[in-house]
Amino acid sequence: MKKPRISVIGVGYVGLCTAVGLASKGYSVLACDVDEQKISKINQGIPPFHEPGLQEKLSESIKKGNLKGVVGQTDQVIEETDLTFVAVGTPSKPDGSIDLKYIESAACNIGKALKQKDSYHVTIIKSTVVPGTTQNIVKPLLEKESKKTCGVDFGLCMNPEFLRQGSAFQDTLNADRVVIGAYDKQSGDTLEDLYKDFYSAHTPPIIRTTLSTAELIKYASNAMLATKISFINTIANICEQIPGADVKVVATAMGLDKRIGPLFLDAGLGYGGSCFPKDVKALIACSKKLGYDPELLDSVEQVNKTQPLKAVKFCKEQLGKLEGKNIAILGLAFKPDTDDMREARVIPIINQLLKEGANVTAYDPVAMPIAKTIFDNKISYATSALKCLKNADSCIIVTEWEEFKKLTPEDFTKNMKQPILIDGRRMFNPETFKTKMQFVALGLGK
Ligand code: UDX
Repeated sequence: MKKPRISVIGVGYVGLCTAVGLASKGYSVLACDVDEQKISKINQGIPPFHEPGLQEKLSESIKKGNLKGVVGQTDQVIEETDLTFVAVGTPSKPDGSIDLKYIESAACNIGKALKQKDSYHVTIIKSTVVPGTTQNIVKPLLEKESKKTCGVDFGLCMNPEFLRQGSAFQDTLNADRVVIGAYDKQSGDTLEDLYKDFYSAHTPPIIRTTLSTAELIKYASNAMLATKISFINTIANICEQIPGADVKVVATAMGLDKRIGPLFLDAGLGYGGSCFPKDVKALIACSKKLGYDPELLDSVEQVNKTQPLKAVKFCKEQLGKLEGKNIAILGLAFKPDTDDMREARVIPIINQLLKEGANVTAYDPVAMPIAKTIFDNKISYATSALKCLKNADSCIIVTEWEEFKKLTPEDFTKNMKQPILIDGRRMFNPETFKTKMQFVALGLGK
């Protein structure tokens, strides 16, 4: 089979991992974005964000000539390729509903380019978009601008992406499933052939469905994972009211039930990142607009809103008033192995601590430069975990970085003014720490 030529519009996590994944398997890929700086980095073989394994394959693909970054120029990349993945951002509007401006502009540009093109071209929406978007917004824009008919003159698919930050590139190469929503059979077959060739002997289950079902699968998956997290956080909050109860043991035992499974049952200060908060909000807004009030998802979001503030409540229970108290924060990124602080749970925690008059010193192995753009000089920044603990009245563990696991009770007792540790991610063994200091852990009965 002759490999189709591919273009990718939008080179964020999803777009770039898709582009590099395909290029690394010998496809010829054009990666297109309006951000000149990003494209210039990509063409030098440097990923614009930190993601394990991506750098090597990116620079290899650029050197081999399989991948090329292009600024703007949608018409050129459509002309020179057979399939286009659209992976532009879909941010939230202030009311939580999805902002489709980048999708709309990509669809208009692709439509204009299709008008000039004679051969069959398939557009694949990879961005997370609410159900109905590809059918009711993308398709009409493509048809209007191209003056052609979808399913006859050109093809259209919706193909959600399930990668996680921190393992994004590996997730692209080893998917659990491929979901293909297709407007017409030919488009779906074209994309299915591409994936079968891409994964060859390791092709995961491929689900063929409608455009809207494909869109909903992505939201349902993320909402389910977010629900698991808010559920276990609810159980953690109940555990705290029961002497001797421990959410970690509850979660381990629950996870052994095959119907429940062990993953995404780590109680903590809530979920953050660029997907779960935004996608749960967008699904709620979409559902309400359609006339159904998804109460369960409202609760999932509500739990996630109050959960981080528990760290502040614990601090107050230990210290009384926070005015003038020194609080050490370990971990700023929304999860370990990333410098991303989008919707990081530490943001509401620090804001509340500052509101109550506390002095905050923070440390994170990689997210400090991003934190400085958020908090500026409202907080202090330490250059190591131990320096962060110096003279602190209380320490809150917000992100479970591997390097924090090495901290011993003595590291806290020797450096802090008062050794009060609040373990918001259940990193430390309560038996070891409880005897040496005031130790409060989330989900642990008092
Ligand atoms: C998520 C989905 O996993 C991925 O499939 C989708 O494509 C994008 O959104 P990501 O945002 O990269 O990926 O991070 P993930 O590892 O899923 O964690 C999200 C948040 O949930 C983090 O803040 C993490 O700390 C929190 N979390 C995760 C928990 O609090 N407990 C858990 O058990 C698991």
